[in-house]
Amino acid sequence: MAKMATSMVQNGEDAFRNIFKFYKRRNPPPDFSDVIDFSKGAVGDRIVPAVLKPSAVSDVEAARVGLQPVRDWRAFSLQGYPGFMFISNPFLQGSQPPWVRQCLKTYTQKPNVCNLDMHMSPSDTEDIWGKSVHALSCPPSGKREAKTLLERLRWVTLGYHYNWDTKTYSSSHYTPFPADLHSLSSHITAACGFPGFTAEAGILNYYRPDSSLGIHVDESELDHSRPLLSLSFGQSAIFLLGGLNRQDPPTAMYMHSGDVMVMSGQSRLLYHAVPRIVSAPTLEMDPSSWSSSLQDGAAVEPVSEEDWAVCSRYIQSSRVNVTVRQVLGPGQSFPETPSSHQTRTDAGQMDGYHERPADGDSGKRKRSSSVDSVDTVET
Ligand code: SIN
Repeated sequence: MAKMATSMVQNGEDAFRNIFKFYKRRNPPPDFSDVIDFSKGAVGDRIVPAVLKPSAVSDVEAARVGLQPVRDWRAFSLQGYPGFMFISNPFLQGSQPPWVRQCLKTYTQKPNVCNLDMHMSPSDTEDIWGKSVHALSCPPSGKREAKTLLERLRWVTLGYHYNWDTKTYSSSHYTPFPADLHSLSSHITAACGFPGFTAEAGILNYYRPDSSLGIHVDESELDHSRPLLSLSFGQSAIFLLGGLNRQDPPTAMYMHSGDVMVMSGQSRLLYHAVPRIVSAPTLEMDPSSWSSSLQDGAAVEPVSEEDWAVCSRYIQSSRVNVTVRQVLGPGQSFPETPSSHQTRTDAGQMDGYHERPADGDSGKRKRSSSVDSVDTVET
């Protein structure tokens, strides 16, 4: 009989690590029967409907960013995780493609920062989309020698650019946060009971089928009373949500394309990770169904057929996750430290993902990567 994730938990151990390894395992593949699938909508002992504030966002405002009316959202909370909210794909039919295009074509442009900047010159990474589309548009006949820049992309930072080395943000490394993503984020957070959320920093993670994201806590933001927002597009993922300690066994859930998570309150500082990318059950996106109903003032432009050909091919095998953060509370500013003058980390050091050593940890664990390798988990 296949082993279930719950049988991996032993008292006093790094339960998160054990379950992470369980879901990451390729051979034999793990039993996924413990993984919560919010898209199935079943409420029960553990999964309860979340309370939203439909009046916080008008239907017109929601539609302008591609969202359904808030009253139609299927939002859930999880027993034992106060402040955690999961919204099962609140996007309107056909409205994910413009966001996918933004993640691949627009947010990858300068002045945003990406992993490729760490070992390539600014002119080489200036137009990742433009330098990749030709090769990506060609039918997949014969093997291409080199991967395109888009295929080598692992992360992009927006707004206050996260410094992977010092694990801090600073006032001196800031570029304007995209207005469309700010608008989407503030509507979602307002509907979840957080009016006045200011999107100040974003991290986009680009996952290939064998990518994973190490165990970590997002604690570099200075104001933890503001929620953390997570949006996913493309292939699905197993997301693990743990506790304040690595000994707390995490809960596994699927994140499908269009799904949104909001981590606030006690859940804001919980360990989490993505051990595995899984094939999306369905990924039918017809961009034309949204563009035809597009209203004046839409936050994002419809996707051209040409662009969608590239985007849809990309997401047939990949996943993009966007986390949006408010870094500073009202009236708060960055402490003056030497690192606040650092605008760019050294080449080769930006692979590290922010993590907090486990309680009782010697602190000697290798640093984990943003996406791809999971050095928090020694295999
Ligand atoms: C995810 O890819 O779903 C999680 C991203 C993160 O925790 O930063």
